[in-house]
Amino acid sequence: MKPNIGIADEHALEVAKLLNVLLADEFTLYAKTRNYHWNVTAPNFLELHKFFEGQYEALDEIMDSVAERIRYIGHYALGSVLSFAKATRLTEGQDESTATKMIASLLDDHETIIRQVRNEINLVGDTYKDLGTADFLTGVLKDHEKMAWMLRSYLA
Ligand SMILES: [Fe+2]
Repeated sequence: MKPNIGIADEHALEVAKLLNVLLADEFTLYAKTRNYHWNVTAPNFLELHKFFEGQYEALDEIMDSVAERIRYIGHYALGSVLSFAKATRLTEGQDESTATKMIASLLDDHETIIRQVRNEINLVGDTYKDLGTADFLTGVLKDHEKMAWMLRSYLA
């Protein structure tokens, strides 16, 4: 049943498309962070292993709320690895030969998401009149800003 919540159909569709791209980004970054949790090697291995675990757990929660937000506005969330790989704005295959390079790669991805989401908050609120999603995206932005700060603090 279609939601009757005061968002024009064409606006809800555009918001859902944008949220599905964000969902694909969150999934990709989740997988990358989990990869580093498994495969990092460093003198402070255990600390990094746990640090990456905390980060992928946070991404898991964000990813879940993005997908459910798409359902709130009457659309379906992407749900396959192939669809995420096609939709994501992030790339894989960076130099992962040291822990520092892994951290720099994650930071770059978080900052990419932060820049994208910052623009989308205004688009969603002002153009599509979906204030609930604009507020939600502001929370996502802040979560990524915190995670980016933690990653950045490992780098000189
Ligand atoms: Fe684990």
